[in-house]
Amino acid sequence: MKFTREILGWLRSGNWGWGFDYTLHLIYLLPVAIRAKTIVELGTGRGTSLTALAAACEVTGGKIITVDIEKCEKVREKFKNCPYVVFVQEDSVSFAKKYSGDPVDFLLCDSNHRRKHVLNELHYWSKHLSSRGVIAVHDTQRPNPENPSEFILNDPYYACLEFSREKGYKFIHIPIKYGLGVLVK
Ligand SMILES: C[S@@+](CC[C@H](N)C(=O)[O-])C[C@H]1O[C@@H](n2cnc3c(N)ncnc32)[C@H](O)[C@@H]1O
Repeated sequence: MKFTREILGWLRSGNWGWGFDYTLHLIYLLPVAIRAKTIVELGTGRGTSLTALAAACEVTGGKIITVDIEKCEKVREKFKNCPYVVFVQEDSVSFAKKYSGDPVDFLLCDSNHRRKHVLNELHYWSKHLSSRGVIAVHDTQRPNPENPSEFILNDPYYACLEFSREKGYKFIHIPIKYGLGVLVK
């Protein structure tokens, strides 16, 4: 339970790069709660959320396909002995169009945050969602620089709203720190 130990250490200390909030707790617990077997992450980045997802897979026995337009070499190195993490270097929407793997139980969108791009991710990846599939979208809000106790809604929030209205998904917005949108059928 290597990644579980790492993630619980981060959560205990609050020292995990995104500042202290509950976003990472949710990214860990949501796939555990639905017993996700196939997870797709859009936006590997520095591997922070990937570590939470890998910890979830230690509980569920699932696998993760993590997609980034960059190679993310340091993150590949960290996960090189982890057979249930597969790296894909490609645009997240182009990859969705040709994806032919297992239905996706948990999708995390955290790549390019432009509204149009997030909407395209939601549109194309939702076609691959399993019947119990859950979508989480990071960075739906940001602190107001003039008053840090207030938040400003971001493009990913509006993409979630538009997608939920068009496709009849339920949209739950978790307004913590940088925000997490959760979409369920
Ligand atoms: C906010 S960072 C991801 C952070 C990451 N989830 C973490 O926890 O470290 C966004 C990532 O999306 C990637 N990205 C940007 N545009 C993309 C696209 N069109 N397709 C796939 N990945 C993209 C960037 O290279 C960057 O690594």
